[in-house]
Amino acid sequence: MNKKLIVGNWKMNPMTIDEAQKIARKIKRTAPILVSTETVIAPPYPFIISCGSKKSIKNFHLGSQSVSIEINSGPFTGEVSASILKDVGVEYVIIGHSEQRARGESDVTVSKKALAVLTAGLSPIICVGEIVRDDAGAYLDTLKNQIKTSLEGIEQKFSADIILAYEPVWAIGAQEAMKNEDIHESSIFVKKVFSDIFGPEAGLKVKVLYGGSVNYRNAPDIISIGKVDGLLVGRESVNAPGFVELLKAVDVLK
Ligand code: PGA
Repeated sequence: MNKKLIVGNWKMNPMTIDEAQKIARKIKRTAPILVSTETVIAPPYPFIISCGSKKSIKNFHLGSQSVSIEINSGPFTGEVSASILKDVGVEYVIIGHSEQRARGESDVTVSKKALAVLTAGLSPIICVGEIVRDDAGAYLDTLKNQIKTSLEGIEQKFSADIILAYEPVWAIGAQEAMKNEDIHESSIFVKKVFSDIFGPEAGLKVKVLYGGSVNYRNAPDIISIGKVDGLLVGRESVNAPGFVELLKAVDVLK
């Protein structure tokens, strides 16, 4: 079965380890009862280990919100490599989030980070999305170039491990998500660009998530009408009752 993938991007929340563990505990209790859904939580670096578990938990995975471009250990103050993340149980790494791009992360850096993550045997969740939309459709070119450059230099053999998160920047932290029909259209476009790079088979298999103002109420329609393979959730992912509700609501969808 092709399971839905629901990723919680905690951003710089919560402020204490106690609170982080409380949220994680609720999600870890829910994950094993899910049938067609897997979940990933991506807490701030210092909380990652304590939000995980010594034994593996069905449908539950740890993620990180960033990673270093450096593959080998060395004099890189402040950096955390993909191997270090792997060693503490991380399986997924969010890369190229618009909040990181706004702080200077370029498409080229994104591609280097993706390569570092893939080389370590982890899955990158590569975020792409236009900052604004225009009636003439120029945003499609922007999106295409962003995807192509963010994947430059990645070998075909890694294509099955890559996850793309389509996040229109204007819908992040907003009042409402993008319209479901538009999400569907954009996800087809993202898959098409991926298939232009890695071939039609890879294009059919790649998971495309949607992110931007997802909550437990709109999540089911985004999945079923927007026809995406999963969700990248910000605010609602640190609201444990809401996130648990979201997981259950999405899980009952065919
Ligand atoms: P949001 O954030 O769900 O709070 O809009 C989504 C994201 O930034 O990934």
